[in-house]
Amino acid sequence: MPHLLLGQVLSFHANPFHTDPLQAAHIETHGAVLIDQGRILATGPAVQLRPQHPQATVHDYGQALISPGFIDAHVHYPQTPIIASWGKRLIDWLNTYTFPQEARFHDPNYALDIANRYCDLTLAHGTTSFCTYTTIHPTSVDAIFTAAQTRRQRIWAGKTCMDRNAPDNLLDTPKSAYDDSKALLQKWHAQDRLSYVITPRFSPTSTPEQLHALGSLWREYPDCLMQTHLSEQLDEIAWVKDLFPQSRDYLDTYEAQGLLGERALYGHSIHLTPREIARLTEAGASLIHCPTSNAFIGSGLFDMTLAKTLRTGLATDTGGGSSFSMLRTMAAAYDIAQLRGQSLHPAQLWWLATQGSARALHADHQIGNIAPGMEADLTILDLASTPAIAQAVERAETPWQALFPTVMMGDDRAIRAVWVGGEEHRQTAP
Ligand code: GUN
Ligand code: ZN
Repeated sequence: MPHLLLGQVLSFHANPFHTDPLQAAHIETHGAVLIDQGRILATGPAVQLRPQHPQATVHDYGQALISPGFIDAHVHYPQTPIIASWGKRLIDWLNTYTFPQEARFHDPNYALDIANRYCDLTLAHGTTSFCTYTTIHPTSVDAIFTAAQTRRQRIWAGKTCMDRNAPDNLLDTPKSAYDDSKALLQKWHAQDRLSYVITPRFSPTSTPEQLHALGSLWREYPDCLMQTHLSEQLDEIAWVKDLFPQSRDYLDTYEAQGLLGERALYGHSIHLTPREIARLTEAGASLIHCPTSNAFIGSGLFDMTLAKTLRTGLATDTGGGSSFSMLRTMAAAYDIAQLRGQSLHPAQLWWLATQGSARALHADHQIGNIAPGMEADLTILDLASTPAIAQAVERAETPWQALFPTVMMGDDRAIRAVWVGGEEHRQTAP
C-alpha cells in the first residue's frame, strides 16, 4: 500500500555550492511525498498529490519538515562507548581511549551489542545511512552489517586494517588484511543495501606493504569505495613524513600504493598542500569533513571552499566527534566556516548532510534527496522542538530562516519520525 506523507518537503535540484542555494534547494511548505515499495514515487504540493492518490495511507506531519534521511559519511561505530572522552589530541587519544576500546571487538557478542546500539542511536538522531570503520576483527564487520541489514539500512563498512604502531592484539598483516578484507567483501558487498568499503586506517598504522596489498584488492574490485584518513593533525603529518621519507606528501603514501581514485574517501583532509589538492581534484576523490571531531580533538579548520571543486561529505567521526547528531555536525561546520571567514547558507549545510554525503559515497542516485525513483529514507523534523528553538523561529520570515535555529540548536529531540527503505522505523526497546 502506498503512503502519502504531508509536511514541509525539502529537496534539491542542484548543488548549492555551484548554484545559488535558493535556486538549488527548495522547501515546499505544504508538500507531500508519495512512497511505495521502498521508493519515492512522487513529490509536490499536497493539494495536487492528495486527490491523485486517494488509496494512499496519509501521514500528516503538519508543519514538520520532511527531509532526506541524514547520511553520516565517516564514523567509527566501535568507538560509540568512548564518545566524549576527555583531554587528548589525536595520537594520545588513539592510544589512551580508542585502541583499548577496539580490542574488545574480538568478542562477536560484544560487537553485535555495540553495532545494534550504534544503529539505534543514529536512527534516533535521524541518520538513516552511514559509512563506518570497524576494527581489525572480521566479527566487527559481520556485526555492523547484520545490525544494519535487520533495519533495512543502506550502509558502508569495511575491516579496519593496521599492521604497525598499534598494540599487538590490534595488528593484522599485509596478507591477512588482504585475505580477510576480500572474504568480507565477497560475503557482504551488494547484499541488500550493504556495501563493502576497503579500509586501511591511515598511513601511520599501515606498512607500505599493507597499503600495497589493499591497493591490489581495490584494483580487483574497482566498484568498491576505499576510505582512509588524510592530514588531520600537524603532529600526524610530521609522523607520516618520518615513516615515509621517500613520499612527496601524505597523499603520496596512498597514491604510490594504488590508493587514490575517484571512489576514494579521505576523512578530515584539513592541512592539504597545493599538490595534494591538485591530485585529489584530478582524481575526482571525495573529502569528508568532520567538524565536531576537528574541534574536539583540536585538529584544525577545514577549508570549505574545497566543496566547490571536490565531492565533499559531512560526518560525525564518532567517537572522535562529540555528537551522533548531524544537526550538531551542521552547526559545527557552520562555526568552523565562520572562523575561516566563510559563510555557509542553511541549504548548503543541509545538502552536505544529505546529498553531499550521498555524492561523496557515489550513491546520490539512490539516497540523499526527495525525488521520484529515490529510495525512501526520510527524516521528519519538528522545527520548534525546544522552547529555545520555538521562540527563535517566531521571527522567521522565510522557510530557511525557520530552519536555521534547528540547524544551530537542534538535536535528537527534533526528530519526530524516521522512514527507512519505505517503512517507518520503530525504535526497539534498549
Ligand atoms: N586517524 C586514524 N584513526 C583515527 C580515528 O579513529 N579517529 C580519528 N579522528 N582520526 C583517526
Ligand atoms: Zn575517523
